[in-house]
Amino acid sequence: MKLGNALGRKDVRLGLTAAAAGAAAWGWWASDSAPYPYAQHRLLDLPLPFLSQHRLDSMLGPSKGERLLEIGPGTGLQSLKVAPQLGPGGQLDIVDVQQEMLDHVMGLATGAGLDNIVPTLADAHQLPFEEGVFDAAYLVTALGEIPEPEVTLREIHRVLKPGGRIVVGEFFDRHQVRRPPWPGMPTRPGCM
Ligand SMILES: C[S@@+](CC[C@H](N)C(=O)[O-])C[C@H]1O[C@@H](n2cnc3c(N)ncnc32)[C@H](O)[C@@H]1O
Repeated sequence: MKLGNALGRKDVRLGLTAAAAGAAAWGWWASDSAPYPYAQHRLLDLPLPFLSQHRLDSMLGPSKGERLLEIGPGTGLQSLKVAPQLGPGGQLDIVDVQQEMLDHVMGLATGAGLDNIVPTLADAHQLPFEEGVFDAAYLVTALGEIPEPEVTLREIHRVLKPGGRIVVGEFFDRHQVRRPPWPGMPTRPGCM
């Protein structure tokens, strides 16, 4: 009896899909290159477990009229969901070290009719913004790619308004930041 007949076509298709997803996940984990290469950008469109948009929204609490900062937007998985919550009077500044990532997000933003996203090509070790201009900042699977994460966190602290919020989302890939970069830094998820 052929394997396809014994298992059923649906089972075989499910098995192949699971194997492909597993290979993609392994490829993600095993990849040691940082910044994440744009050539593999399709993988960034896959939602990651424990890093849902709902979870980010509930920690970040974006509100109409606020100015927010996102570091390492990749293909805009989070940017395109956060920007509409800021409304036309708000602004989402996205900072990435790769122009291709910024172009990708801006192409999707234009297609979606979003005009409150502002791209900036910069290295997150040195943010090209004045002090105290952002209400909140977030990074999802980006902090671990940055060679000196504590420098970036210090920079974010500088550009946040007093009482500003910061959310860091990390995934268990090779670059994961597993503990707070500063001794004594508050570890409550979503807060700093
Ligand atoms: C793995 S992607 C995450 C993309 C997106 N946040 C997501 O969850 O799908 C990491 C992003 O951080 C950016 N990045 C890495 N190092 C950076 C740095 N030093 N400064 C600014 N962006 C950086 C990469 O170019 C990439 O777009």
